Amino acid sequence: MTARPTRADAAAALAASRARTLALTDCLDEAELLAQHSRLMSPLAWDLAHVGNQEEIWLVRAAGGRRALRPDLDDIYDAFRHPRADRPALALLRPDDARRYLHRVREAATDVLASVPDADWDAPSPTGQQASLLARGFVFGMVAQHEQQHVETMLATHQLRTGIPVLDAPAPPPAPADAASLPREVFVPGGPFVMGTDTDPWALDNERPAHVVDVPSFWLDTAPVSNTAYQEFIADGGYADPRWWTPEGWEHRQQAGLAAPLYWQRDGRTWLRRRFGRTEPVPPLEPVLHVCWYEADAYARWAGRRLPTEAEWEKAARHDPAAARSRRYPWGDTAPTEEHANLGQRHLQPAPVGSYPAGAAPSGARQLIGDVWEWTSSSFRPYPGFRAFPYREYSEVFFGPDYKVLRGGAFGVGQDACRATFRNWDYPIRRQIFSGFRTARDTTAGGCS
Ligand code: AVJ
Ligand code: FE
Repeated sequence: MTARPTRADAAAALAASRARTLALTDCLDEAELLAQHSRLMSPLAWDLAHVGNQEEIWLVRAAGGRRALRPDLDDIYDAFRHPRADRPALALLRPDDARRYLHRVREAATDVLASVPDADWDAPSPTGQQASLLARGFVFGMVAQHEQQHVETMLATHQLRTGIPVLDAPAPPPAPADAASLPREVFVPGGPFVMGTDTDPWALDNERPAHVVDVPSFWLDTAPVSNTAYQEFIADGGYADPRWWTPEGWEHRQQAGLAAPLYWQRDGRTWLRRRFGRTEPVPPLEPVLHVCWYEADAYARWAGRRLPTEAEWEKAARHDPAAARSRRYPWGDTAPTEEHANLGQRHLQPAPVGSYPAGAAPSGARQLIGDVWEWTSSSFRPYPGFRAFPYREYSEVFFGPDYKVLRGGAFGVGQDACRATFRNWDYPIRRQIFSGFRTARDTTAGGCS
C-alpha cells in the first residue's frame, strides 16, 4: 500500500480477498466444505464464516460503530476458544448461510467505508482505538489482510485434501535466460539498517516500530534452495545422520518418520509429489516446498551453512545501500506486478529458482517476495517498543521461543498481506504451510572463500 491509501485502495483489497475466498469454497460441495481434511486445519466452512465474523467485529462494530449483526457467531468463530481439531464438531453455519452472512457483513463494511469522515481517514495522530482503526483505512487493510491469510490457509487445506482435483491455474513463466548462470550467493555488506516500519499505513502491530539494527556482513543464497539441491541432501543420507540436526530436530525426525518433504513419495529412483490432487515428478528447478524448520536447519548445516536470521533476511530484502534507506519491497516501494513476484494464487506453484529478475533486491537476491515462505533462524519476538494493536491475540500471545519466523510470502499469499516487513510464524515442526528456505553464511576473515 502507498503511504496514503485511498478508499478505492481499501475497496480493492477487500474485493480481491473475497474473490479468492469464494473461488476456493464455491468449487466444493457442502459435505467437503464441512469435512475436516486434516486435524491441522479447520473445515473450509469454518474459515469461510470466520473471515466474515472478524470483519463484523473489527470493521463493522469496533471501527464503524454499527450494531452487531450476528453476535451469536462470535463464540463459534473465535480461534482461541476452539482449536482447529475441534472445529468440525461446532454448530457451523451451512456454507450457503455463511455466504449470505459474508455478503451482509460486506454490505455493512461498504457502508462504513463510504461514511468515514475525511478528517478521520486523514487524522495525523489519531487517539483511541476507533480513531486508530479508521486512520488511513487501517482497519480495511487489516481485515483484507486477515482474509488473505485465511485464503492461504484454505489453499493449504486444498493441498491436504485427497479428493478429485478442483483447482487449476497457469504455470508460472519459465526461468529467465540468466537463471542458470547466477552466482550461487550474494554479499550483503555489514552495517546498520532500518528494520520494521512506522510509516507503512497497513503494517500490522508486529512489524512496528521501526528500529535500527546493525547487521554484520554475510552471504545469502541468490535464490531459495531448489528441489535438486534438496534431493542431494536426501541422497547423501541427510535424514539418517544426526550430525546435521539439532537434538529436538533429530527427535522429531525420528518420531515423525521424516524422510523427504511433505507430499513427496519415491518412485524407484525418482521422486514424485502430489500437488492439489495430482501426482507428478518433482520439478528439479522449483524451490523446495513443504519442509519444516528442522529440515531446513538440517539441510543448511549439511551444506556447511546456516539459516539467515530474521534481521539478515529483512536487510537483504529491503536495505538500499545507495540511498541508505529501507524499501517496502526488494525492488523499491511500488506495488508488486506479475513481473516482480509470484503472489496472489495467480499460479498455484512456485516459479523456478532464479526467476523474477525485475523483483531482485539491491544485493542481487531474487524471489525474496513470493514463491515460498522462507524459514529464518529467529524465534518470533516483539521489536523494541512493540505495542499490541488492536488485539493481543494477533501477535503478542505468540511471542517467545516456540515459534520460528518465516519471511517473504508464498505464491498463495495475497499482495496486500505481503511486503518486506511482513512477519509470519509457525511451530518448527509445521510443513503443511507453503514453506521453503534459503541459506546464509558468515564472512570469514579472507572474505569470499
Ligand atoms: C500469521 C499466519 C500465523 O494463521 O494463525 C489468521 C494469521 N491470525 N487469523 C494464523 C491469522 C488470525 C496467523 N499467521
Ligand atoms: Fe483468523
